[in-house]
Amino acid sequence: MRGVVRPPGDKSIAHRALICAALASGTSRVRGLPRGDDVARTRAALGALGVYFDADRIVGGRERLREPDRPIDLGNSGTAVRLLAGVCATLPFRCVLDGDASVRRRPMDRVVAPLRAMGAAIGGADGGLHAPLEVRGAELTGIDYTLPVPSAQVKGAVLFAGLDADGETVVREHVPTRRHTEELFARCGAALTVEEGLAGYGVHVQRSTLQPLDVDVPGDPSQAAFLAVAATIVAGSEVRIEHVYTGPGRLGFVDVLRRMGASIEVVPRDATTGDLVVRHAALGGTTIAGDEVPALIDELPVLAVAAAFADGVTTIRDAAELRLKESDRIEAMAAELAALGVGVEELPDGLVVRGGLAPRGTVRSHGDHRVAMALAVAGLGPSGAVQIEDFAASAVTWPGFIDDLRSLACR
Ligand code: S3P
Repeated sequence: MRGVVRPPGDKSIAHRALICAALASGTSRVRGLPRGDDVARTRAALGALGVYFDADRIVGGRERLREPDRPIDLGNSGTAVRLLAGVCATLPFRCVLDGDASVRRRPMDRVVAPLRAMGAAIGGADGGLHAPLEVRGAELTGIDYTLPVPSAQVKGAVLFAGLDADGETVVREHVPTRRHTEELFARCGAALTVEEGLAGYGVHVQRSTLQPLDVDVPGDPSQAAFLAVAATIVAGSEVRIEHVYTGPGRLGFVDVLRRMGASIEVVPRDATTGDLVVRHAALGGTTIAGDEVPALIDELPVLAVAAAFADGVTTIRDAAELRLKESDRIEAMAAELAALGVGVEELPDGLVVRGGLAPRGTVRSHGDHRVAMALAVAGLGPSGAVQIEDFAASAVTWPGFIDDLRSLACR
């Protein structure tokens, strides 16, 4: 594989940038949104709440927002449901936030519990454990909340609620998670302070009126990871993956791949973006565990594929959260790698992958975009023969994935 490619805009930043623009009074500009369905759902949800969109111009402001006339369907996007739960908790009307069958299986109590502690009126299926969530506006009070699971979505939901709560809202974390909410709040002039040091990491926010923002969404490192593994396993490759977000909490997969022997150079463009230059390299096994997991949780399916091509054994631990994603990704990757002839063992919180095989056979995406794309990367190995059922699941985040891969094929 050879060439230069720009991955889709970062999904985590895109959801948050749209929501910040919706809350900011005035006209914001958000360029470089990814084309997938997930972010389109957040945009449509904000439209249903009264936000005006015209190409990359967004006219927002709390004074514009009004009760949607029907439940908001966020499709496959758990991030959208969770972040919007925090926003809707502050709006003076009723919103119902729902999604597809996968979203309805995902735990929502992790946002419902802290939002209720702030005074939010939220109901949901199974007592608030699952979507659909029914959120009614209420007067909120800030809380001091330590994340029980390292989740940037929970941090985001509580901080969005904190933008319109009495007093200070604090979110603390023992294990670092991606920082996009606090980064965007700072750009929008929110009353925010970030405390970082021996006492740990904490974000403090006070009631704030956001200023409009003007942002170019950088490329998504989680999508870059598919290309990085692809270039690593295909002999003769040299690929430049441009304009990738390189700020905190997202490049854990680069460290892991380098530890496995990959050749990845990060060439900075500015403080938080850069290009990844990836060359083919032979891989060895590694262990992925502990506090490094949240910084690469979405990349584990494709790292499991990298492990299948590596010489030796790779062990993934402390990743039970993977079972709570768009599919149970531990079960899905164990089943599909096994179907491709890879030696793999499922652990309660991870996988053991025995490398050295060229995967081959027919597999299923489990309706999960990242499983689908990881399995497509497996098909780029020397055996070159993987068929994927329901590959269309990849369109929620990267509709042109196969075309982008083809554009890099050696001519
Ligand atoms: C995300 C955080 C992560 C990640 C998800 C996007 C975000 O989830 O897996 O794809 O945008 O905050 P958790 O917050 O559940 O860890």
